[in-house]
Amino acid sequence: MSPNKKSNIGDTSHITYESLLEGNETFIKNALDMDPDFFNKLSVQNPPVLWIGCADSRVPANQITNTNPGEIFVHRNIANMVIHTDMNMLSVLDYAVNVLQVKHVIVTGHYGCGGVLAAMSNKEFGLIDNWLRHIKDVYRMHAKQLDAISDETERANRLVELNVIENVYNLCKTSIVQNAWKNGQDLSVHGWVYSLATGKISDMKVSTSNNDKLDNVFKFK
Ligand code: CO
Repeated sequence: MSPNKKSNIGDTSHITYESLLEGNETFIKNALDMDPDFFNKLSVQNPPVLWIGCADSRVPANQITNTNPGEIFVHRNIANMVIHTDMNMLSVLDYAVNVLQVKHVIVTGHYGCGGVLAAMSNKEFGLIDNWLRHIKDVYRMHAKQLDAISDETERANRLVELNVIENVYNLCKTSIVQNAWKNGQDLSVHGWVYSLATGKISDMKVSTSNNDKLDNVFKFK
């Protein structure tokens, strides 16, 4: 990243349809400078990780983990949700686990998540309210703990963490992860939270590669 580019951070006024295509030319040049065989080597993908993150433009999976194309399979939606009727998420998960045979699935939330803040409020936002409803369920499950936090930002931060943790459990409960574990597949799930203020990722320490943390009713045997 050039110092010039750095000074543009946060200012999107220079971004145009055309500038994106110019940016693509720069990307190609940089990629070939890094490795003349860059595109040949990526003719097939073999990522060891599936990332389920927020759609927020400030939380790009590759950049914040310093990884290259080909290294992380990515699914993003508002507030990094794992909802068991979401065919989009399930299709990505199925492909990642059963075809790509990823070793890790990481649910990554972020402090200051607009989706979580909206879900905490009592305002109506339209169609998205039906999506945010799932975050309100997380609040309900942990209402005692959350209501005890008087500072609103701290309470929102904790809900971001709990939302990641609950979505890691949601992930474990999918037929895809249950079948992988039943078949002895090497698959771990993890929960992370990214700080917009510092760029730092915190591990929520809910990593697991088996059913030990799940209620019995969810386990495929
Ligand atoms: Co967000």
